[in-house]
Order: sequence, then C-alpha cells, then structure tokens
Amino acid sequence: EQLKKEIEAMVAQSADEVEQLRIKYLSKKGEVSKLFAEFRNVPAEQKREVGQAINTLRDFAQERLDVLRSGVQEQKDSSVGVDLTLPGESMKLGTRHPLSIVRNEILDIFKRLGFVVSEGPEIEDDWHVFSALNFPEEHPARDMQDTFFIQRNPDVLLRTHTSSVQVHDMEEMEPPIRTVTPGRVFRNEAISARAHCMFHQIEGLYIDENVSFADLKQTLLYFAQELFGEGTKIRMRPSYFPFTEPSAEMDVSCSICGGEGCNVCKYTGWLEILGCGMVDPNALESSGIDSRKYTGFAFGMGIERIAMLKYGINDLRLYFENDVRFLNQFKSAH
Ligand code: PHE
Repeated sequence: EQLKKEIEAMVAQSADEVEQLRIKYLSKKGEVSKLFAEFRNVPAEQKREVGQAINTLRDFAQERLDVLRSGVQEQKDSSVGVDLTLPGESMKLGTRHPLSIVRNEILDIFKRLGFVVSEGPEIEDDWHVFSALNFPEEHPARDMQDTFFIQRNPDVLLRTHTSSVQVHDMEEMEPPIRTVTPGRVFRNEAISARAHCMFHQIEGLYIDENVSFADLKQTLLYFAQELFGEGTKIRMRPSYFPFTEPSAEMDVSCSICGGEGCNVCKYTGWLEILGCGMVDPNALESSGIDSRKYTGFAFGMGIERIAMLKYGINDLRLYFENDVRFLNQFKSAH
C-alpha cells in the first residue's frame, strides 16, 4: 500500500528523472522487484493473493512511468529552451555595395534626362570593342598588354570598355538614340591601390539630328552638378579617342576643397572624371548610321574613381575584397 502511494505520487521534469524512477522501482534491484524476492517467504495459502497484488503493483508502476515519460516528451516538443518573453532577434540587413550606390545615382541622373539603360556582353569580339570604333589596326589598346584575349583568330576577348555596348546599340537602334551603359570592363594591369584588372564604367551615347558639342557640355554640366552639388564647375581639356572627334577630358571642381586646393586634387582644384567627345563619323558609319544626317556625342567614366572621390576611398582593392567592415559603412536603401 505504501509503495502504491509513492508510485502514484511520482513526478518527473525530465527524461533523466523518469529513468531514475524506473531504476528505483522497476529495475532488478528496485523496490517492486524486492517484493518479488520476499514472495518466497509468504505462507502458501496467501501466495495467490499476494502474488496478484505484486503483479498489479508492477503493472501500475509501469503505466505511471509511461505516462510520465510521454509528459516529459510533450513538454520538450512544445518548448525546447524557448523563453517566449525574450525580445525577438532582429534581422541583419545587408548594405549596398558603394559601387552599386554610385552607379544607381549616376544612372538616375541620366534617366531623368531621357536616357535609357542598355547592357551588353562582357565577352566580345574584336569588331565591337575596337574595329567598329575606329581603332587603327596597330593601336596599342589592342595589344596583349592591355586586353585579355580568350582566343585569337577569330578574336574573342574581354571588353576593355563599355563602348562595345554602344556599337550594339547603334547597330540595332534607329536614331534618336539615348543610352547609358553600365558594366564591368577588364584590362590587363597589375593590381595596386590605383589600378585593377577589372573595374566598372558607365558610358553614354546620344545620337540625333543636330546634336552639338554645346549639348554635350550642357548635359555633362547638369550631370556634374547633380552628382557633386550645385556649385560644381566643369572644365574640358582637349584629348584623343579613336571614336570621337573632337575629344575631351572633363574635370570637375574639387568637391572636397571646393577648388581651394587639397591633397585629393593635388592642389590643382580640379578632378578628372571622364572622357567624352563627338562620335567620329567613321564610328557612326561602321555601325550603319548615316553620318551626313546624324551627329552624336559620347562620354565614359569609371565608377570606382567617382566613388573614391565621393567617399574619400584611397585604395581600389577595397571594392573587391568583401570586407564587411568596409562594406557596412555604406548605408543606402537605393
Ligand atoms: N571608352 C573610353 C574609355 O574607356 C571612354 C570614352 C567614352 C571616351 C566615350 C570618349 C567617349 O576610356
């Protein structure tokens, strides 16, 4: 009777405790088993009655343990160490890459002017990267030193600029054409703080009747002031590209010192940010555009360089190393 009360009162918080109770009552040396051992001493006329009582007690203990065991299991299933009063874990939000932020900003400015975004392949043929753009046969940019060739004759190569996309656009579209072409480009250069074997460009193209250098200048002035701030000044210096004539390089007044002179602009007050010019009639004709009817301008810039100026980044390699300590500093939903 005493044992029965005990067994009835058994409680257990864990599977371990259930096991302890099993050992205590039902194992070979357990309390119930002891009763079986004492059974020998029971007078013969009582054996039947006592035997039944012990069997009932054993079954009862077994049942109780089963109930306890499933109780413990249920508890475990419904709350594996969960404290529902704790505040939830907040999700870690990623950040946009600085190059993506600046690329989107630049594209947005040109989209507001009516340009459409156009993209093309990174692996190209000689025609789209060089020949259609009026590069002479012996031009050094075609050289192995600059260009990554995948295959020779016919040439398969990594584009060295996104002007190749402009060739596709001119081949496929009818003027007026207004495109901006963001993309990754590749040049065989030793990797350092100031040079990398790949970088990102955005180039622009506008072809229509009566497009003039004044249109180019005004477009780029608007762009510079949108990107670097209202007071930004621009200046054009004569330059050379095979696919534009005349050609220029454009500087903006230094956004860091405002033209006073600092070590970012090397005390000149000016920063070079892009190349541009009027599309050479040869380049128009190569892509099937009538150069007597249409004129156009083009420009191209490196995104890494502009992001460096905007954020004061001094080493190109930081862009491609995926160090979250660097990447986390750029917060933008854009
Ligand atoms: N494609 C030139 C470069 O990669 C940039 C450029 C584009 C210059 C358009 C003039 C006009 O250096």
